[in-house]
Amino acid sequence: MHILVTGGAGYIGSHTLIELYHAGHTAEVADNLANSSVEAVRRVEKMLDVSIPFHQLDVCNAQALDQLFSHQPFDAIIHFAGLKSVGESVQNPLRYYSTNITSSLNLLSVIKKYHIPHLIFSSSATVYGTPESLPLTENSRTGIGITNPYGHTKYMIEQIMRDFAQSNPTVAITLLRYFNPIGAHESGAIGEDPHDVPNNLLPYIAQVAVGKRPEVQVFGDDYPTPDGTGVRDYIHVVDLARGHVAALAPAQPGVHTYNLGTGKGTSVLELISAFSAACKKELPYRIVARRPGDIAECYADSQKAAQELNWHPTKSIADACRDSWRWQSQNPNGYR
Ligand code: NAD
Ligand code: UFG
Repeated sequence: MHILVTGGAGYIGSHTLIELYHAGHTAEVADNLANSSVEAVRRVEKMLDVSIPFHQLDVCNAQALDQLFSHQPFDAIIHFAGLKSVGESVQNPLRYYSTNITSSLNLLSVIKKYHIPHLIFSSSATVYGTPESLPLTENSRTGIGITNPYGHTKYMIEQIMRDFAQSNPTVAITLLRYFNPIGAHESGAIGEDPHDVPNNLLPYIAQVAVGKRPEVQVFGDDYPTPDGTGVRDYIHVVDLARGHVAALAPAQPGVHTYNLGTGKGTSVLELISAFSAACKKELPYRIVARRPGDIAECYADSQKAAQELNWHPTKSIADACRDSWRWQSQNPNGYR
């Protein structure tokens, strides 16, 4: 299949390009580089020895998007493009609503106009808000207890896509709810490259490991979890990328929702310890106050993806820390 990958220069998008080509697909990337570097795509091209057309465009620009589709037929779209910083979304909600929702609306318009049969959307475990019970299945309650505009955009876009699918019965839409992506490609050539202070735990730990930051701040040790620190379902980004390839298999029209996680919870202290083992030095950390809006625990039931997509994550936390350390130590300044 020939796939348009929006946000393909970003963290998850660049890893997905590799898995798409490994599976025999081809791709083009549309990205405005708001949070990425074209160097990520160049490195993927070098690794695969292929040329991947790169369109530097804002998916919120309906005209530019229409022009792209009028010149090139695509068999499917994988829509990664969007803004993802939880804290920034609280500071600047309009930017988040505008970017994440407008880009999705624009894509749905071209899907309708150009009869694109399948859209895969990057949703998030954040749509589950405060979990009623664990593990989270695709039928778990959504929308209650989402604490930030970023999370609201994911919840709203899922609803928009369901409404769209109802009125366009030939289209398949796959909503992939990611848990916590970590790690990097095992080559060390591509990885996560946050432009500012990392918001997420693993890239923060990696920057402490490489000496860019003095210590990890652990946000609370008084949660009702085994060691008191927050527990999440960390999934290796390459396993996650393979989930997109699995989801491309011919999908029936309608909406399909899948959790992509491992089903296993790991605490903040366990992740710091795993990374310390990978980089072979004890990483300093300090317990500080809880971060507002955080939940104690979150992990997936991913059996639906296993059964229907034949998708099975294969990589461990140790693999993710080793790969992330390889990327971070080989590229201390990311793509710059
Ligand atoms: P990322 O920031 O690395 O990638 C997003 C890409 O989209 C970037 O390359 C950015 O330049 C591009 N982009 C942003 N706005 C754009 C626009 N208007 N037009 C064109 N391109 C635009 O983030 P990521 O971690 O790779 O996340 C990819 C998707 O997965 C996002 O939608 C994110 O919300 C979602 N997601 C991520 C996580 C996570 O923890 N990384 C978890 C759940 C869901
Ligand atoms: N944490 C720290 N110190 C840090 C950063 C995080 O202790 O410097 C803790 C958090 O309190 C939490 C855990 O590490 O217990 C994971 O935090 P992250 O910020 O890495 O991840 P979250 O689960 O809070 O959020 C992530 C994404 C969201 C997404 C959500 C669910 O950032 O976009 O997963 O998919 F919505």
